[in-house]
Amino acid sequence: MRKKGEDFRTIWQKPDHPEVVQIIDQRRLPHEYVVHDLVTWRDGAMAISDMLVRGAPLIGATAAWSLYLAAIENRDSRDSAEFIADAAKEIGATRPTAVNLQWALDRVMRVLNGAATDVDLVALLEKEARDICTEDIEISRGIGQHGLTLIEAIAQKKHGKTVNILTHCNAGSLATINWGTATAPIYFAHQKGIDVHVWVDETRPRNQGSQLTAWELAENGVPHTLIVDNAGGHLMQHGLVDICITGTDRTTRSGDVANKIGTYLKALAAHDNKIPFYVALPSTTIDWTISDGLREIPIEERDPTEVTQVYGRAGDQMCSVETVASNTGVSNFAFDVTPARLVTGLITECGICPASEEGLVSLFPERAKTTS
Ligand code: MRU
Repeated sequence: MRKKGEDFRTIWQKPDHPEVVQIIDQRRLPHEYVVHDLVTWRDGAMAISDMLVRGAPLIGATAAWSLYLAAIENRDSRDSAEFIADAAKEIGATRPTAVNLQWALDRVMRVLNGAATDVDLVALLEKEARDICTEDIEISRGIGQHGLTLIEAIAQKKHGKTVNILTHCNAGSLATINWGTATAPIYFAHQKGIDVHVWVDETRPRNQGSQLTAWELAENGVPHTLIVDNAGGHLMQHGLVDICITGTDRTTRSGDVANKIGTYLKALAAHDNKIPFYVALPSTTIDWTISDGLREIPIEERDPTEVTQVYGRAGDQMCSVETVASNTGVSNFAFDVTPARLVTGLITECGICPASEEGLVSLFPERAKTTS
C-alpha cells in the first residue's frame, strides 16, 4: 500500500522525536489526512477506544506502542514494571472482541517479566513494539501471496474477465501496519495486472467501508464501487460477485470467525448463491483457547450515538447529524460470528486451509492438542 508515493505505515515513531508515537486519525478519513501524536499510554488507550485506530492487528500494535510510552513515562521510577502492568490492564479493557489486543499485551508483558533488573525497559519495549509491526507487515505479505492464488484461479476460469470481489468493513492496510489482510490478495492481484474490481460494503454504523476501504483502494488505483450494506445479496444473486474476502477480529480454533457486524449475513448470502466466502487472517487473530465462537467470543457493544448519528463533511466542516428521533431505542453490536460451516476457507500467512480445527492445525501443527 502506498499513499502519495510514500511507503505507508499506520503507526510509527515521530522521526525527530522517537519518544512520540504517531498514528493516522482514521476518524477524519477520507476527508482529511491527519497525523495524531501519542505521548502517553493513556493517549494510546484512547486512540483504541475512540477508534482513531481500529482493526485487530493495528489495535494490537497500538497497545504494544502504548506500553513503550508507559515505560518512558515512568522511566526513573523503581516501580516501572508495576506501572506498565497496570497500564496493560487498562488498555486490555478498551475493546473486547479483537484478540490481537490481549495477544500483543501478553507478548510485551512476557518480555518485561523476563527482563533482567538492570535492563533499559524503554529500549526493550521499543524493540518489541517495532518487532510486532515488522512481523505484521510480513504476515500480511504472506496472506497476500497465498490469497493471490485464489484470485488468479478465478481470473483464469473467467478468461481474464474482471474478477469481482466483495469485502466488508476495512480489513485493509489501515487495519494492519500495511497491506491489510482481506485487501492483501487484492493488492497483489492488482499489482500483477489481474483485472480486479472490489464491491465495498459501506459498513454502518462506523462506515469503515465507505470511509476507509474505499479511500485506500483509491490511493492504490484499485477499481472499486461502494454499495450499501444490504446490496451484497442482490449482487450475488445476479452473478456480480466471484468471491467474498473479509477479515476477522477473532477466529476460534474450530474456524468460527468474529468480524464486523453484517459479515454473517454476507456469508449466508454467499452460501445460498454458491459463492466462495474466504476469511483472511494473521495467525495472531486465532484464539486457540476457544472453540465455540457464538458462545465464547465477547461481542463489543458500542455507543448508541454511532447508530443515531452520521458523521461526515458539510461544506468545509466535519460534523455529526442526528438521523433518528431522540426517543428511539437503539442497540449497537459491533461484531457478529460467522460459523465455520459458512466459511469456504481461511487465508493465513502460512497458507489456505479449511475453516476447521484440522485445517488450522495442519498449518500450525505446534497448536495440536497433546493427549498426554
Ligand atoms: O471495529 P473495527 O473497525 O476495529 O473492526 C474491524 C473489522 O471488523 C475488520 O474487518 C477486522 O478487524 C479485520 S482487521 C484486519
